[in-house]
Amino acid sequence: MPVYKSISELVGKTPLLELTGYEKKHSLEAKVLVKLEYFNPNQSVKDRIALSMVEDAEKKGLLKPGYTIVETTSGNTGIGLAAIAASKGYKFRVYVQDNVSEERFKVIQAFGGTTIKLSEEPVVDKVLKETGGDFVAAINALRSEVLSKEENIFFVDQVSNPANPAIHFSTTGPEIWEDTKGEIDIFVANVGTGGTVSGTGKFLKSKNPNIKVVAIQPGPNSLPGDANPTPEEITGVHPFEGVPDERIPSTMDRNIYDEKFEAETIDAYLTAREIAKTDGILVGTSSGAAVYAAVQLAKRPENKGKTIVAVLPDTGLRYLSTNLFNEDYVG
Ligand SMILES: Cc1ncc(COP(=O)(O)O)c(C=O)c1O
Repeated sequence: MPVYKSISELVGKTPLLELTGYEKKHSLEAKVLVKLEYFNPNQSVKDRIALSMVEDAEKKGLLKPGYTIVETTSGNTGIGLAAIAASKGYKFRVYVQDNVSEERFKVIQAFGGTTIKLSEEPVVDKVLKETGGDFVAAINALRSEVLSKEENIFFVDQVSNPANPAIHFSTTGPEIWEDTKGEIDIFVANVGTGGTVSGTGKFLKSKNPNIKVVAIQPGPNSLPGDANPTPEEITGVHPFEGVPDERIPSTMDRNIYDEKFEAETIDAYLTAREIAKTDGILVGTSSGAAVYAAVQLAKRPENKGKTIVAVLPDTGLRYLSTNLFNEDYVG
């Protein structure tokens, strides 16, 4: 191995692991392979897009020495960007959703980044109220406000930045294709910005159009509703079906997936707890959801003998203050 000069060189090339312990315990007749994105330098899949969006902006002249990188994010992108910004010498500011775990705020601050809760931004609150919760509109309003009031800002905007899905097309997809030697039947990924599923799915289908792409959204009990306005949610995972077009990030290609899978938070928790014990990997809630989906697919008779690959976005260490590994919490 060479001696690396920057964390930028450590992004990607994450390992694929077959969940042999879980497969054996449940007598699964399909292979479940997981792509461990916590092997990235800051422990999540978002290191990939952080690097790609920053370097794309540098190439386009949108980001220059002395500029401040600004983003709104549920956390992992903020952490990835904070680290890349630190290593490249940029200032970094992030607006974070209030329900994000405390660890994430602390990590961003450790990298020298500034964190601001979205609820503390009057324009966000105003637009959310006016539109009945249109998050995309609220973020757009915040961006317009920041850009009109300040100079030397690069507003990253992971939900509309084409460098987000592009890096999955050029790295995540090829890594899976090469590591499986093309032996992949089903690809499973969560949908937040949709970058992972869209870019990786597009690459895999370009290699073999028969690969089935399964996209995960939260189940009905894991979304705020009249009966339960504050359910335990799956961080970073958002609905994409039954949602008006204008609320779908442009990084999400709604034509890419063959099946939508709805995962409930409790199933994600129970699965993440179980694979920690069967296979010794500690992953976050959305990873639990991805494995849960992959396992349900593996159990279908028509998938006997097939190979299913799921992307596990981040480390479980980022959720120690949540109910994820609280064994007493069972829904
Ligand atoms: C923990 C976690 N899981 C899954 C996702 C979804 O990934 P993507 O934005 O590529 O759809 C995100 C991103 O928001 C995330 O932070």
